[in-house]
Amino acid sequence: MKSAPLLPTSAPFAADQIAALNGVIGAATAEQRAWLSGFLAGVQAANDPRAATPAAPPAKRIPLTILFGTESGNSEAVANQARKAAAKLGFAPKLQDMADFTPAQAASVENLLVIAATWGEGDPPQRAQDFYEALLADTAPRFEKTRYAVLALGDRAYAQFCEVGRRIDERIAALGGARIADRVDCDVDYETPANGWIDQTLQKLNEEAGATVSDASVIHVDFVRGGNEPDADAPTRAQPFGATITDHVRLSGSRSTSETYHVAVSLEGAGIQYEPGDALGVVPRNDPELADAVLVASGHAGDTALRSALIERLDITTLTANQAADFARMTGTEVPPAEWLAGRQVIDLLERAPGRLSSEQLSTLLRPLPPRYYSIASSRKAVGEEAHLLVAAVRYQSHGRARSGVASVDITQRSHLDGQLKVFLRPNQHFRLPADPERAVIMIGPGTGVAPFRGFLQEREAIGAVGRNWLLFGHRNYTHDFLYQTEIQDWIKDGLLTRLDVAFSRDQPEKRYVQHALWDARRELYTWLKDGAALYVCGDANQMAKDVHAALLRILADQGQQDEAAAKAELDAIRRDGRYLRDVY
Ligand SMILES: Cc1cc2nc3c(=O)[nH]c(=O)nc-3n(C[C@H](O)[C@H](O)[C@H](O)COP(=O)(O)OP(=O)(O)OC[C@H]3O[C@@H](n4cnc5c(N)ncnc54)[C@H](O)[C@@H]3O)c2cc1C
Ligand SMILES: Cc1cc2nc3c(=O)[nH]c(=O)nc-3n(C[C@H](O)[C@H](O)[C@H](O)COP(=O)(O)O)c2cc1C
Repeated sequence: MKSAPLLPTSAPFAADQIAALNGVIGAATAEQRAWLSGFLAGVQAANDPRAATPAAPPAKRIPLTILFGTESGNSEAVANQARKAAAKLGFAPKLQDMADFTPAQAASVENLLVIAATWGEGDPPQRAQDFYEALLADTAPRFEKTRYAVLALGDRAYAQFCEVGRRIDERIAALGGARIADRVDCDVDYETPANGWIDQTLQKLNEEAGATVSDASVIHVDFVRGGNEPDADAPTRAQPFGATITDHVRLSGSRSTSETYHVAVSLEGAGIQYEPGDALGVVPRNDPELADAVLVASGHAGDTALRSALIERLDITTLTANQAADFARMTGTEVPPAEWLAGRQVIDLLERAPGRLSSEQLSTLLRPLPPRYYSIASSRKAVGEEAHLLVAAVRYQSHGRARSGVASVDITQRSHLDGQLKVFLRPNQHFRLPADPERAVIMIGPGTGVAPFRGFLQEREAIGAVGRNWLLFGHRNYTHDFLYQTEIQDWIKDGLLTRLDVAFSRDQPEKRYVQHALWDARRELYTWLKDGAALYVCGDANQMAKDVHAALLRILADQGQQDEAAAKAELDAIRRDGRYLRDVY
């Protein structure tokens, strides 16, 4: 701590006063000195005959809790923006993660904004699960003293669109909460509706709660995707960085049933300071051939402006029930049944009634093209101003058509031809290595789920972390799909990787997955966890993460010789401890 400068003997005080003041100032902490300086400034201002008006009494600051439930950071970013806007308006906002909050705590606040994402098939984000279940339970508290509003984040491509936000909103109302603004359900382009919701809700809250605000029109919300606040001029989804592709290697063998690539991009000059665990957002381009097919089906072949919008800006693949209804209305045709939508895309819809939309109608029908995210598979300490990605090309057949994933095929098949990817950072504060380099880590990452763990291992190696590292990897075939095989085997040889378990599902008659490898290693796994290891899961959300979760519960029950409820309580405790972290998609 810097010591305070003492009063000189020339100060306009008697010698004994100087000694007394020096005694106080010299021993004061920085906080006490700051207080003293404010106090003296206030005394001075009050006695200053030049001060025309007395200082205004401090505005009454209305407490406001902004509660978010997030998996990949969007809701947290919106909550952060709401906090900034609320603070500007004179509220006293407090940001709160559902992971660390209970319905009883929520019911005890007077002003509550809830921002919640939906995951899985209408499920809450993992860390919000306890809160969500407790809120829906019969034992949930009454919310009679709470004014509240809900913003729901989701994706219309999912059947259970914004289900979690919707249910939270309805539940709090049923429990007696006073809704101050209607819920807004946001699709993937959530920024503008979220912005409007923040604006409106704060104004209503201000009217109802009687906050003294300066000027409600001053809210300007700039969105950043992600949990923390990057530099003002860091690349964003709207203004991504054009990164040069420096490496592009197919890792899965030519006889593999999957197509997975290692792609390195240069971030030189980008101002992107990523940490292991973060993802890179990629702004993709649609397949020009599909854009041409859409032009033909909509009767606009040759419209070059429309073509470029279809490639660069609009989502020409995802098909939602809303779009099907809008299309039927625009063309005077029948709305297709819900089952018809499964496995179909925009092109299939347009072909139901070809050439019937104006180009404006087509543009309104289509959603904006959302970015895709890829876990960063490197550490800056090891690779410098680069980021490595591991991308599996999505290709499948449905309803007689060959279809391909927009971004994964753009990145792996098209972008590398002109050598550029448009990227921005999507930080993930909730998927970080332990701060303590001695803590052991267990990393479960089958398929592309291994990506962040390559970053973790590079980082642990670079900082000389002595904690043990255990990797569980799985894929289809050992010979074709062992991604980063040589590196992983070298890490085993030189001791960075303490343990490696693999599961190749198609190498034996019965399917073997990472959860089976986990079960086989249950005794060691339990010991590692008891010794304080942090456990990470990355990769497929639909099946793998659920199966691994179930395997963990079975292991805790088996090894801890306890019943299912006790095993669940133990895993919950590990999660609350920040030692069970998932990044699943
Ligand atoms: C935080 C995060 C990290 C990620 N990290 C990685 C990573 O490291 N590596 C990686 O490869 N991906 C990763 N992903 C996934 C990635 O973002 C994309 O979702 C993925 O590449 C597919 O995008 P796409 O544009 O190629 O496919 P899209 O154009 O989005 O198509 C995918 C859609 O096609 C449909 N579909 C796919 N297969 C079939 C089928 N067999 N039958 C019928 N319909 C089907 C489904 O509707 C599916 O949603 C991550 C995602 C998140 C959220
Ligand atoms: C694997 C996965 C499953 C999802 N499931 C749903 C869903 O069932 N319903 C929905 O409305 N949105 C769903 N979404 C979309 C997310 O809610 C959306 O991306 C949201 O912006 C994420 O917010 P978050 O970053 O705060 O977690 C899903 C997204 C992913 C990647």
